[in-house]
Amino acid sequence: MTQDIQSLRTQIANEVKSASNLKALDDVRVSVLGKKGRITALMKTLGAMSQEERQTKGRDINILKDEIADLIKHQENALKKQEMDARLSSETLDITLSPRQDYMGHIHPISQTIEELTVIFAAMGFHVAEGPDIEDDYHNFTALNFPPGHPAREMQDTFFLPETQDEEGEYAKKLLRTHTSSVQIRHMENNKPPHKIICFGRTYRSDYDLTHTPMFHQMEALMIDEKTNMGHLKGCIMDFVRAFFEIEDLPVRFRPSFFPFVEPGAEIDIGCSRKDGGLKIGAGDDWLEIGGSGMVHPNVLKNCGLDPEKYQGFAFGMGIERMAMLKYGIPDLRTFFESDLRWLRHYGFNPLERPNSASGVKS
Ligand code: PHE
Repeated sequence: MTQDIQSLRTQIANEVKSASNLKALDDVRVSVLGKKGRITALMKTLGAMSQEERQTKGRDINILKDEIADLIKHQENALKKQEMDARLSSETLDITLSPRQDYMGHIHPISQTIEELTVIFAAMGFHVAEGPDIEDDYHNFTALNFPPGHPAREMQDTFFLPETQDEEGEYAKKLLRTHTSSVQIRHMENNKPPHKIICFGRTYRSDYDLTHTPMFHQMEALMIDEKTNMGHLKGCIMDFVRAFFEIEDLPVRFRPSFFPFVEPGAEIDIGCSRKDGGLKIGAGDDWLEIGGSGMVHPNVLKNCGLDPEKYQGFAFGMGIERMAMLKYGIPDLRTFFESDLRWLRHYGFNPLERPNSASGVKS
C-alpha cells in the first residue's frame, strides 16, 4: 500500500474516531465516501493510470474504502449506544408511584361484569365473538326463525333506521339489534363448526321505565357440535351462575318457555329469598328469572348452512345490567347510564384490581 493511501487512512480513521455525535460522523462520511469525497476522488484518478498501476492501486483503494466503511459503522453503533445510555439515565419512570385515590377513575359496573363473565367463560373454553349494533332484519329476526308478522318485529319494540338501498339495489330498513342472538347467526355464517362462543354487547328496545332502558347490554352464549345436549346446557349455566354469584349451592331452575330460535326453550331462574323488602340471592323460598336458553332450533342451523341431522347445541342469553344489579345490589337500572360521578365512585371498581383467572372474579 502506498504512502499516500496509508496516511489518508490514518487521517480518516482519526476523524471518524473523534466524531462525537451522529451528525459529525455523517459529515465525515460524506467527506470521504460522498460524491465529492476523498476516496471517491481517488477512485476517479484510476482512469488515467496504466493498467498495471490501476490493478494494484484499485485494489488498495477498495480495501481502504471497505475499512473506512467498517470504521464508520462501528463508530455509529458506539454513538447510538452512547445516546441511548444517556437517555436511559436521564429519563425516569417511577413505576412504584401509587395513583392518588381521589384522582383515580373507576371501572363501570357493566365493564366489570363483562370482565368477570369473560374470565368465567374463558376458563370453560369459550371464545369471545362480536357483531354489529346496526343489524338487518335477516340477522336479527328472519335467520332466527321469527315468523313474518311476529310482534317483536313491530315498531313498539324495535328501533328501525330510515330506509336505505343495499348493494343489490333493494330498499330495506336497517335496525338496532334487539338482542345479541344476531351474533349467533353471524358467527355460524362465518366460521366452521364446532362453535363455542360468548358475546357481550349493546342491545336496543324502545322501552323506558324503572326496569327498562332503550339501550342495555346482553350476553349470549352459543355451543354447537355433534353431541351437545340439554344436559350440557344445564351444566354450563349452573356452573357459570354459581361462579358468577360466588355461591356454591345456588339453586338453578329451568322453566319451559318459547323463543322462536330454540326448541325446546327454557327460562333460567335462580334461587332467592325476599324478606322485609330485601332480596337475597341464594337458597331460599323464591325464584328470580335471569335469562333465556334452549337447544338451537333446526331451522336456525339450516339458515346458517349446518345440517341439523349432524349438528346440535345450545344457546342462552341474559341482560348484563340485571346480573350486575343482582350481584352488586344496585337498585335502579336507569342510574347505569346517567354518568353521575358520585354513583360511579360508589358502585365502580378499582382499575388496578381486575378480575382474572388466577385471583378469581372477586374484586
Ligand atoms: N335473545 C333472547 C332475548 O333477548 C334470549 C335468548 C338467547 C333466549 C338465547 C334463548 C336463547 O330475550
